[in-house]
Formats: sequence, C-alpha cells, structure tokens
Amino acid sequence: MITESLLDECAAALEASSARRDPDYPSYHLAPPIGRLNDPNGLVIVDGVYHAFYQFGPFFPERNLVFWGHASSTDLLTWQTHPPAIAPSDPYDQSGAYSGGATVADGRVWLHYTGNVKHGDVRESYQCAVTSSDLVTFDKHPANPLIPGPPPGYTTHLRDPQIMTEGDGYRMLLGAQRADETGCILSYHSPDLVQWNLQGEIEFHGTDGYDDFGFMWECPNLLRVPDSQTGEVHDVLIFCPQGVGPIGDSFRNIFPCGYLVGRLDGLTFHPSGPFTELDRGFEFYAPQAFRRANSEDGEPPILLGWLGNASEDDQPSLADHGWVHMMTIPRRLTLRDGVLLQRPAVDLFDQPVRGNVSPISPLPTIGDLPVRLHQLTGRDSFALRLDVDQSRTPAWRLRLSGGAGSAVLFDFTGDTLTVDRSHTRYPHGDRRTIAAPRADRLRIELLHDRSVVELFLGDGHTAFSLRSYLEPGLRSVELSASGALDVLAGRVTIL
Ligand code: FRU
Repeated sequence: MITESLLDECAAALEASSARRDPDYPSYHLAPPIGRLNDPNGLVIVDGVYHAFYQFGPFFPERNLVFWGHASSTDLLTWQTHPPAIAPSDPYDQSGAYSGGATVADGRVWLHYTGNVKHGDVRESYQCAVTSSDLVTFDKHPANPLIPGPPPGYTTHLRDPQIMTEGDGYRMLLGAQRADETGCILSYHSPDLVQWNLQGEIEFHGTDGYDDFGFMWECPNLLRVPDSQTGEVHDVLIFCPQGVGPIGDSFRNIFPCGYLVGRLDGLTFHPSGPFTELDRGFEFYAPQAFRRANSEDGEPPILLGWLGNASEDDQPSLADHGWVHMMTIPRRLTLRDGVLLQRPAVDLFDQPVRGNVSPISPLPTIGDLPVRLHQLTGRDSFALRLDVDQSRTPAWRLRLSGGAGSAVLFDFTGDTLTVDRSHTRYPHGDRRTIAAPRADRLRIELLHDRSVVELFLGDGHTAFSLRSYLEPGLRSVELSASGALDVLAGRVTIL
C-alpha cells in the first residue's frame, strides 16, 4: 500500500536523523525530528495530554511532500514524537496533507485537513477528514473528499479548515480566494462533520476595508478569549492575509498574521478595533489554539504558532542537520482593552517547571558599564524575567552574546524597541524597530532556546519572536544604559 511505503520511508528518514544532535536544536520548543515543520495543526487536549499535529515534510528538501506530524506533551515543554497521523497517500491528497483543525465528537478526535493535488501549475484542493479513537491509529474517512472543490466564484486556493460547534451542528471556516484574486473566509455548516453545505463568505460589519485585503487568506481561526479584567468573553478572528503589508512598523514579514477582536454573528463579524499584528517579530505565522475535549467558555485559549514563514528554509540547521523551523512556546491568550495579551502558558518562573528557578541578586543598577547576569553565562536554554524602572534612562540595551563576536541586541528607548540580529548566522532579515509599551516600569520576559528567542513585554501586550542563531561558544546576557536603569526584580530559569 502507498500509505505503508510512505510511512516506512518516513521511519527510515527518522532513523537516520541527526537533528537532535544539532547544538541549534531547541530543548523546550517543539521542532521536527527531521525535515521541515510549518503550521501547527489539529491541536487538541485529551485526558490532560496535549497533542500537537503539524505540517511535516520528512523528505525535505529533496521532496516537499507534506504529512501531518504528531507530538504530545504533558508539560508543554517536553515533546514526544509519534508516527505521522496523516500520510499524503490518496488521489485527493497526493501532493500534500495541508493544514486543518481538530474537533472532539462521539468519543473520537476528528482531524479535518486539506488534500492538496498539483498537476504542474494546476492546483486542486479537497477538504477531507481522518478520525481516531485512541490518537494512535488514524483512519481516513470513507466519504473523503468531504468537499470536492471550490464553489463558483472562488479559486482552488481553498484550505485550512477550522471547525467549531454551532447549534446542533458544526461550522467550518476555510481560507479562500475569490475569482478576482482577493482573499476571504468561507463558512460551511454540517450536521455531522461529514456533509458540508456552503453558508457564504464572512463579511465585516461597518467596514469595506477587508474586501480587497491581500490575495489569499490562510489559516483562519476563531477563538473565544476572556478579558483579563472583566472575564467577558470576546470573539477573536485570526487570519493570515497573504499580500498585505508593510503598514507602518507592522506586517513586515513575507506573509503577515493578525487578529480582529469583536463578535461573529451568523456570517457577519463585527470588529471592535483594527486588524493587529499578532507577534511583532521576524518569524511567526499560521497559529492555532488547542481544542479541549470538554471546552468551557471563558478558559483562556493556548496558542501555538509557527516560528517561520514562507521562503525562509535556507537556515544553518537544514544544511548541517537536515531539519528546519520550530513552534513558539505555547502561549495563553487573554484580552485587555481590546488587545491580545500573550504569555507563556507554563509559568516558567515558578515551580513546578522542568528547570531550575532562581532570583537575580544582588539587583544591579545599570549604567554605561555593561553588567553581565552571571547566572546565565554559558547557558543555551533559559528564561529570564526582569522588572525594570526606565524612568532614569533615555536608552538601554540588553545584549545576548554568543561566540566569535555574535550577538542579538535589544535596544529600548522608553517607547520603541529595536532588535538587531545582523551579527548572527541567520540570513533572513537584520533589524527591526517597533513601538514598545510606554511605561516607567516594564516587565521583560526573554526566552532563549539554542537558536530561538521569544520576547514578551509588559503583561504580554507585545510578543516579539526571532530565530537567533548565535555562533557556538560563549553565551551571556549583559545590560547597559545611558543614565541609570533600575532593575527592581529579576528571575531566571535554566531549562
Ligand atoms: C500556511 C500554509 C497553509 C497550507 C500549509 C501547507 O503556512 O501555506 O495555507 O495549508 O501551509 O503546508
């Protein structure tokens, strides 16, 4: 059978993999065991275990044939690899099992995905499903493909199903492209997760700004997110409008990813604010939140994003050890004043975590002479939290150094942050300046894991991710400031 030979080939690629011996391979981020990883898919929590599926190209770069990879975790820091859940072995998915989402129904997990078929430049797309009652065996649904192509007026760029319950049935959101090559989201309804009927396009109340907003919208996701102060739950619509940007200091990645807060009523979304970039860093795309088997409205969603983007595969890890890209740390989402707050879903600065937690002491006052945080010297994987008072300094710097003069610089001015990674091994994108929360007192959480950095500012108001690829050798974190920067509190966790 084709499935078996593809899975055998995949097992052989895994067997031969040296990815985990790579000093750049992360220790607490989810990365592929071999080959290429892109979007998170079918995220689901069953019996307290987090299952993350993902776009997985085990034969990359020789062949870009996409499977659904599978990993699970109980602590969101340590990931166990399982055999792929979906192999692209049928006529309707032969060029790749593309992204999609999980639903828990009738004691089974349903994974809806897009079967991609390419004949030269001609693309076909089929919406399909697999089901599993144990998350070990996955069966392609006998009725596949469930949606055999686009409706009139839309192109075959139709993909990335996300399913949610609606009344007695289900609703599917799909990333779509109109025949005039503008992007949108289509909504389908089903009584049973198998038969799907087109409802129409999602429209945006009070604005025509989304009628012509990029050429294709990928990975739509509707989440229910509680406000951190009032507990009131709002709809948050995340999507990735290819072809939008740059706008001001936002949307400067190859393809952007953002969100609207508001309310979805039937086919109409009522936004209460602008489309806002989700992560302000260099690498971030196609996020998705974990589905809970018994979801209770009001629980903050946990989001996983792809720390990569299209056309960024040329990286040291691929050349040296045959793997590329990873996921973000799982992030807990809440809202405050219409802004999405993102924080690591695991409290990395408290027990129990996997690592060793310790306070920074004595607390330094930082001036012109760089102060090295000695707890972090030589460390490759850690989390650092600092509470600083910036009121006595116009500008201060956090410098993350590796061997051979390599460094990533974070320069704060009170209302901007500039990140400079021009002195690293990473070839895609050097420097970026964004607005930072204006505050005398600022909390900074910096997660470093071998070749990646995620930075969270304030209470998660700003997230900034980047691949860091310092040179091997010395690792250190130093602070310096013009004027004086007061460090009010600090904590580190070695992971
Ligand atoms: C987003 C995306 C999806 C597609 C998948 C293919 O990164 O292009 O739209 O389903 O990746 O791997």
